[in-house]
Amino acid sequence: MVIYGDLPVNNKHWIMLFQCIGLGYIGLPTAAVVASKGVRVHGVDVNDRVVDTINQGEIHIVEPGLGEVVRQSVASGMLLASVEPKKADVHLIVVPTPFKGVHEPDVSFVEAATRKVLPFLKAGDTFIIESTSPIGTTEQMAVLIFRERPELKGNLFIAYCPERVLPGNVLHELVHNDRVIGGIDEASTLKAKEFYELFVEGELYGTNARTAEMCKLTENSSRDVQIAFANELSLICDKAGINVWELIALANRHPRVNILQPGAGVGGHCIAVDPWFIVSEYPRESRLIGTAREINNYKAFWCAEKIHSSMLEFELKHGRKPLVALMGLAFKPNIDDLRESPAKYIAQKVMQSEQNNFLVVEPNIDFHSVFKLTDYQEAYDRADIVAFLVTHDEFKLLGYRDDAVVLDFAGVFKRLPEPRMSWV
Ligand SMILES: NC(=O)c1ccc[n+]([C@@H]2O[C@H](COP(=O)([O-])OP(=O)(O)OC[C@H]3O[C@@H](n4cnc5c(N)ncnc54)[C@H](O)[C@@H]3O)[C@@H](O)[C@H]2O)c1
Repeated sequence: MVIYGDLPVNNKHWIMLFQCIGLGYIGLPTAAVVASKGVRVHGVDVNDRVVDTINQGEIHIVEPGLGEVVRQSVASGMLLASVEPKKADVHLIVVPTPFKGVHEPDVSFVEAATRKVLPFLKAGDTFIIESTSPIGTTEQMAVLIFRERPELKGNLFIAYCPERVLPGNVLHELVHNDRVIGGIDEASTLKAKEFYELFVEGELYGTNARTAEMCKLTENSSRDVQIAFANELSLICDKAGINVWELIALANRHPRVNILQPGAGVGGHCIAVDPWFIVSEYPRESRLIGTAREINNYKAFWCAEKIHSSMLEFELKHGRKPLVALMGLAFKPNIDDLRESPAKYIAQKVMQSEQNNFLVVEPNIDFHSVFKLTDYQEAYDRADIVAFLVTHDEFKLLGYRDDAVVLDFAGVFKRLPEPRMSWV
């Protein structure tokens, strides 16, 4: 048994109540999975609609299998939601960390959640942050806690543990993914590990808080940089008259090369956001990461410009404005999530001056407050210019149209729009 002060930290039955602050895409599944392991859970959210929904045994987000786990946890009394925190043994902060200003991380939600739970902390508690956070956030929250509650110094375990689940597969990945856990000291790392041992079957790797924070940012920056390389290739290949899809497939036949696929840009609330958390604090040292962000953002701008120039060419050739189908609004294939979506950005940009002559398609949503949506087959059949912005599965089943201008930014058909070589 490890002793920290006078606190035992190797007892499996030390959690009488687990408190989860933030009941969104990550917090609610975590709360429900912990409850399903026989630990009482107090879920806290500032949104009373969220709280009411959960207390009725229902869910406010889309995630396969989650509804049943929440229903059972609430029915058995193991999960209860509230707008107010209470005393507990483990406190988990899973609130949003968006941008503010020019790509600066906004940790005000983490700070607000920490302040909210502060009066309820007691000696021996474990306080864990899961929100994606800039380096040093956990230490900053420790300073804040000990400034307000100095008697807890040396008597509170504080750690950071990033989340790396894939939406749509959260219940499986929450349990089976490996986790990185970084405490503000070794005892905190060990104590937080004990909490995750309750429900994680993957490996638990201990480190310090700053490394754990940077690990999450590194994972997403790595994806961003690799996609930027593919997107940069697509810009070069477009100018050089080379089919980038064929090029990448051939280059990947090298035993040590594995290039990702280009697209209309990079979106979502993780990969398109988290690298800025590094760049904003270490701008001189993170030139590759910052440039990758710029390349991926530029790719969406470039796609919008391509659509514009294709429209002008069409008008010059045919003496009328073309009808343009914008295929997909989501930030990646087969989901309904439009957050930070390059496809949505492209649609907004090309439709800025006029909305007529565009058919907007997103088969994964029924309604959008800004865009009037059209059935994908109808839009595809009617359009003079078709711009594929996302590779949704249904698009791949469409037959290639030789009689339309196909701008395949996402790689649905992986064909060049027209023969480019003078001898073809
Ligand atoms: N969704 C993902 O796939 C994913 C994956 C990895 C990491 N993350 C990170 O996890 C964190 C949470 O993401 P999410 O997708 O669950 O966000 P979300 O927006 O779905 O949920 C956050 C919840 O926190 C609540 N909230 C905000 N401030 C609060 C406060 N002070 N007290 C209590 N509740 C509060 C909100 O009402 C909301 O219900 C973010 O930092 C995100 O970057 C998300």
